[in-house]
Amino acid sequence: MIIYKSAAELEAMRQSSRIVAAVLGELEPLIRPGIRTRDLDLYAEKRTRELGAVPAFKGYRGYPASVCISVNEEIIHGIPSGRILQEGDIVSLDFGVLYEGFFSDSALTVPVGRTSPEALKLVAAAERSFFKGLEQMKEGNRLSDISAAVQQSVESEGFSVIRQFIGHGIGRALHEEPQVPNFGAPGRGPKLRPGMTLAIEPMIAAGGYEVEILEDGWTAVTRDRSLSAHFEHTVAMTENGPEILSARTPAAARPRPSLLKESPHA
Ligand code: MF3
Ligand code: CO
Repeated sequence: MIIYKSAAELEAMRQSSRIVAAVLGELEPLIRPGIRTRDLDLYAEKRTRELGAVPAFKGYRGYPASVCISVNEEIIHGIPSGRILQEGDIVSLDFGVLYEGFFSDSALTVPVGRTSPEALKLVAAAERSFFKGLEQMKEGNRLSDISAAVQQSVESEGFSVIRQFIGHGIGRALHEEPQVPNFGAPGRGPKLRPGMTLAIEPMIAAGGYEVEILEDGWTAVTRDRSLSAHFEHTVAMTENGPEILSARTPAAARPRPSLLKESPHA
């Protein structure tokens, strides 16, 4: 059952999403060669609690951290660790919070220093495909119009769409109906109606879309170890089309150095 949100519920979703946007916006400029993924995670958790919210992923099905940090061929669910980011890596940050009863969820992939043109193209393609999907959010359209537009966009750039993980409805639960695949034929599924809140999240790969899960039971990587990128926002369908609830504004992106206690580099 799809849960349509009232104006008051949408406002709460907006507030939750604003926190996700602020934290991700602050993490982005911290990403540079030499930083440990665990330091980014600790920063995010402190900042989230400071803003009165709770990290949504920590403890979810036993997930051990606040942010999913996935590097290069890692697609999603990478676990923050002592891993040091290197020049040329691409790193996906996937983050959600719970605030006043409502979840929000957003992700982006960031280049670390200078990366290959191919990696940059992949990162841009993930973001572009999200917006192509978003363009389909108009009354009269159906859910799978989003899916088909994402797939078409990604494949037109020569990349592939991950099938094993998909977007989802979001609200009082992190994962609500409907499922939002990033592939498939258009014109199917429920009509898009005001009050629907979705996490649209294309995950794409430079090579094939097959997935492997690493020994830690979480980290999903491309089977061919090709690079992967992810882009996600919590969005609402309104009378006037889509609203990106987790949009990052430049003003939000001012990290608090005091919150970043980098672990000693061994
Ligand atoms: N963005 C992912 C999702 O919507 C994040 C979940 S990670 C988990 O499913 F650790 F919480 F499982
Ligand atoms: Co999600």
